[in-house]
Amino acid sequence: MSELALLGGPKARLEPYPAWPVWDQRDIDAVTEVIRSGRWGGFPYPGPKTAALAEQFAALQGGGYAVPMANGTITMEVACRAAGIGWGDEVIVPAYTFQATAAAPMAAGAIPVIADVDPQTYCIDPKAVERAITSRTRAIIPVHLGHQMADMDALMEIATRHHLIVIEDCAHAHGAKWRGQGAGTIGDFGSFSLQSSKILTSGEGGILLCRDAVMAGRAAGIIDCGRPHQAGGGPETHDGEYLMGSNFRLSEIIAALALVGLERFPEQARQREAMAAYMDEALSEVSGVRVLQRDPRHTTRSFYRYVFAVKPEEFGLEHDMVCAALDAEGVDCWTGYEAMHHYTLFQPQNSKLAVPNAFPQYFKFEEMNLPEAERACEHEAVWLDEAIFRCGQQGVDDAVEALKKIQQNAKELAEAAKKLKER
Ligand SMILES: Cc1ncc(COP(=O)(O)O)c(C=O)c1O
Repeated sequence: MSELALLGGPKARLEPYPAWPVWDQRDIDAVTEVIRSGRWGGFPYPGPKTAALAEQFAALQGGGYAVPMANGTITMEVACRAAGIGWGDEVIVPAYTFQATAAAPMAAGAIPVIADVDPQTYCIDPKAVERAITSRTRAIIPVHLGHQMADMDALMEIATRHHLIVIEDCAHAHGAKWRGQGAGTIGDFGSFSLQSSKILTSGEGGILLCRDAVMAGRAAGIIDCGRPHQAGGGPETHDGEYLMGSNFRLSEIIAALALVGLERFPEQARQREAMAAYMDEALSEVSGVRVLQRDPRHTTRSFYRYVFAVKPEEFGLEHDMVCAALDAEGVDCWTGYEAMHHYTLFQPQNSKLAVPNAFPQYFKFEEMNLPEAERACEHEAVWLDEAIFRCGQQGVDDAVEALKKIQQNAKELAEAAKKLKER
């Protein structure tokens, strides 16, 4: 019998990793309290739970004016709108991220310009950003991807020099810090998702951190059907003017769940951070594996998924086979996103913007050469589930043992896969 679970052998990890989201009586009590209060919705904005969430979340990240809203996609669209970014403007986004990072500026009317990533971190490469800047560029959206942070020093220097807005996509980086400063408080805006897989979750929801009080007031207006709001995002005011807006308020029931999540968050983040350091060490002993670079300026690692790279030639398998085999061993993982320019959204036949000669300055599909993102997305990246880092050293040991087993039996697995393909 094979040693590999994928080929019928025994699993490396018998016990399932802990479930997500974590919940207990506190969540039930918090929701019950809101239901009994009769104040369910987000109107008038912000409700008491939403206001408390804004305050506590800004304190967690260490600054800014927090504006809770419906999700972590609209946050980025609202940031663009609040900053006056729209038709004709270009916004630079990384080639390795979820589609929302590019779709949000598009929803505001801007054109996403896709820049390649740094192979050491898989986050946007500041040199690629510099090359992508044109006279129409208005903003950069770096993504703190997986368990990494983008090089905020280099990006802020570029942004200052070119007068660009920086919107940090922190959907994976609640609690993370760069030189002691919270993710999302370094740029002009920080966008956070509270969607069910995220490390602070209320099922759905998002929070936009704004460095500037006026921007926060505008953001609150944009998500509250355009009603004028106070600077800082506080309650509606009758002094200002209506903005172009829609309803993306957060409901009080969701805010109540997020507040309970915030109580648990520090301990969960502490566990993940300690076990990530242990994982770095353990992985460095597996042949054919590359541990992503740990930047010493990334002072607190709080993360959504832990990402490493396989070196297919050396390991003997591509990342998709490694992930399939790890999953079978009981180690939850994923190959990650596809490269941004490969998303259906950006295929020429699907884009009205690509009508020949109609908008020649827009997507230059034929020029989208993004080799680092392609290598990561198509061959290398393995995203380990956060739960692996919430059950002590045993959780990490089991995952690494499974990986070693797969590496040692890579030849057998590659041959089995080849035979299956030939059938
Ligand atoms: C990097 C990134 N940005 C943005 C989002 C969008 O967040 P939401 O699903 O809350 O809209 C997600 C996840 O869903 C994400 O992973």
